[in-house]
Amino acid sequence: MMEVIRPFREADVPVADLILRAAHGVENSFDSLLNRNRLLTPECWWILEIDGKPVGVVGAVDFGEFAHIGLMSIEPGVQMSGAGSRLMQYALDQLEGKGFRSITLYSTNAGVAFYPKFGFRWSGLSCEWKLRKRKGLRRDMRILACLDLERIAAFDAPIFGGNRMALLAALERESPGRILMAEGESGACVGFVCAQPNVIGPSAADTPEVAEALLDAALDLSFDGVPRVLLPEAHGDGESLMAKAGFEPFRTSRYFVRGDAPQQQRQKMYGQAAYSLG
Ligand SMILES: CC(C)(COP(=O)(O)OP(=O)(O)OC[C@H]1O[C@@H](n2cnc3c(N)ncnc32)[C@H](O)[C@@H]1OP(=O)(O)O)[C@@H](O)C(=O)NCCC(=O)NCCS
Repeated sequence: MMEVIRPFREADVPVADLILRAAHGVENSFDSLLNRNRLLTPECWWILEIDGKPVGVVGAVDFGEFAHIGLMSIEPGVQMSGAGSRLMQYALDQLEGKGFRSITLYSTNAGVAFYPKFGFRWSGLSCEWKLRKRKGLRRDMRILACLDLERIAAFDAPIFGGNRMALLAALERESPGRILMAEGESGACVGFVCAQPNVIGPSAADTPEVAEALLDAALDLSFDGVPRVLLPEAHGDGESLMAKAGFEPFRTSRYFVRGDAPQQQRQKMYGQAAYSLG
């Protein structure tokens, strides 16, 4: 048996999608997520092959101050034989070689005992919510579609603890006009939300009131199916807002950090782009 770990190429997207779907037991395609995440940091995506056949995938996105690992998957027939461990160790060695001292990820149940073997520490719980029945929210501030992504990225940087400019630009390209910004009385940016076609996030706000107004404005847009929110951190303001807005929780994910924890303000985070995107 010949095992090789090599860079992920564009032509790998369909086979990586098959691995991800089989590993996670879902029908939905990972194509758009794979394409977007990979293009954000092309040099940090890898494929594990056994006898020339791709059976594993993992990648990371560079946010400047830290790297976020996502989409780690091994084909079911190959799981539990050490392949995942070898791929994870390889990815970590590569990321360390690129100078990352801080690496984060969100884990499924299958990863709860897996990631601590590589030095990851459990650092919080994220909950995924879906809209059950829209409820009235307060929106007493100016909310506008924003094309000045630099302004949003500057507001976001101290909250997220990294630079999401490239991600925001990718999301705006994919679904134009769905990044909304809240302006305070002085005209300063006090929050933003990106309403992806099926996920409301990323989103960050200075106060729960701003987050509420942004969510209300986002919900005026149309969605592909039931909109979901991935709350990066289970905090009272976020959970209360979800419940008040008529969302219900349906899935949790665990946040893990390796090395230095990113300098974030997690209580100001009200939605993430995807578990694979920090
Ligand atoms: C998690 C995963 C990447 C591990 O790859 P792997 O090749 O099976 O891992 P290894 O053989 O190197 O290590 C096995 C360890 O993984 C963990 N693990 C793997 N599958 C598991 C499962 N279904 N339930 C719980 N733990 C699991 C365990 O810690 C296991 O060690 P143990 O049985 O001695 O406790 C792989 O199982 C997978 O792709 N799972 C489905 C997709 C997924 O959840 N990916 C993680 C996204 S964050």
